[in-house]
Amino acid sequence: MKRALVTGCAGFIGSHLCRALLADGWEVRGIDDFSVGVAGRVSSDVEMVIGDVCDAPLMRSLAAGCDVVYHLAVRNIMISADDVEDSWRVNTLGPGSVYHAALAQAHPPLVVFTSSVSVYGQADVIPTPESAPYKAGNPYTAAKIAAELYGLSLLRLRDLPLVIVRPSNVYGPGHREGPVNRFLARYAAGQPAIIEGNGQATRDYTYVADVVRGIRSTASREYVGQIFNLGTGKEVSLLSLAGLCADAVGCTAAVTFVPQRAYETVARRAMDATRARIALGWKPLVSLEDSLRQSTCISAADVL
Ligand SMILES: NC(=O)c1ccc[n+]([C@@H]2O[C@H](COP(=O)([O-])OP(=O)(O)OC[C@H]3O[C@@H](n4cnc5c(N)ncnc54)[C@H](O)[C@@H]3O)[C@@H](O)[C@H]2O)c1
Repeated sequence: MKRALVTGCAGFIGSHLCRALLADGWEVRGIDDFSVGVAGRVSSDVEMVIGDVCDAPLMRSLAAGCDVVYHLAVRNIMISADDVEDSWRVNTLGPGSVYHAALAQAHPPLVVFTSSVSVYGQADVIPTPESAPYKAGNPYTAAKIAAELYGLSLLRLRDLPLVIVRPSNVYGPGHREGPVNRFLARYAAGQPAIIEGNGQATRDYTYVADVVRGIRSTASREYVGQIFNLGTGKEVSLLSLAGLCADAVGCTAAVTFVPQRAYETVARRAMDATRARIALGWKPLVSLEDSLRQSTCISAADVL
C-alpha cells in the first residue's frame, strides 16, 4: 500500500487531499498544529499527529516510510501580514524541515510543495505562465518564493525529489477565508457582500476538487524539478463574483465596499495552465458558475 504524509491535513485543501488519497487506497499520515485547522474536517482514517511542521525530529519520523510528502501547512496571507515573525518561521522553516526530513530518509520520498500563484505578484502577462518572474508584494509571497528557491537548490545540490505546484484562488466546500464562501454566507444570512477595494480586482477561481486532482497528478518522479500552475485562465472580478453568488443564493447582489488591505497588491490575475494540460493531462472540470449553481460551496461552508 502507498503511504503519503500531508502537512496541514486539517486545512481546507489538505483535508480534501487526504480524502482523495484515502479513497484511492492510500495510507495517509497527517500533521496539523490546529492554528486554523478544523478537527472535524479530518477523516478518522488519517493517522494524525498534532504538531508543528518546523519540528525537525518529528518531521523526520513522520516522513519515514512515505512515498510522497505533500506540504500544505502554512500561515495564510492574512496571518502572515499580522504576525510576520511567526509566519516567516512557519512558511520558510516549515518547507525547510519537510525537505530535510525527506533527505534524511534512505529513499527520500517525493516532495510536492504547494506554493501559490501569488509568487507572480502583479504579473505583466495575463494569463500568466510559470516563466513569469517572481514579485513579492507581501510576506506570505516572499516566504513562498524563498521556500521554492530553497527546495530547488536542494534538488540541485542533494537530489531532493521535489515538484512545485502553484494553485490559484482555490474555493469549495469547507473554505472559510476566500470571497466565494464569504459572499455566499453573507447572502444566505440576508446581508450584503463585503468587497475590499473597488470590486474591479480579478482573480482566477479554481475549484478545490480540480486543484486536488492537479496536485495529485504532479506526484510522480518524472516531474521532479518542474513547476505547475493550476488555474482556469478565467478572470473574474469581485463585483462579478458577488453577482454570481447572489444568483446562486437567489437574492439581489447588494455589496458594501471597504478599503483594500495593504497586503493585497494584485489588480488582475489569471493563470496559464498549458504546462499542466500538456504534461499532466490536467484541466479544470468544474466551472465557477456550475459549482455555485449546485451550491456545493455554501452547504459545506455551513457544516465544516
Ligand atoms: N486556498 C487557496 O486559495 C490557495 C491558493 C494557492 C495556494 N494555496 C496553498 O495551499 C496550501 C493549503 O492552503 P489552504 O487554503 O488549505 O490553507 P489552510 O490555512 O486552510 O490550511 C493550512 C493548514 O496548515 C496548518 N498549519 C499552519 N501552521 C502549521 C504548523 N506550523 N504546523 C502544522 N500545521 C500548520 C493550519 O492549522 C491549517 O490547517 C497552502 O500552502 C497555501 O499557501 C492555497
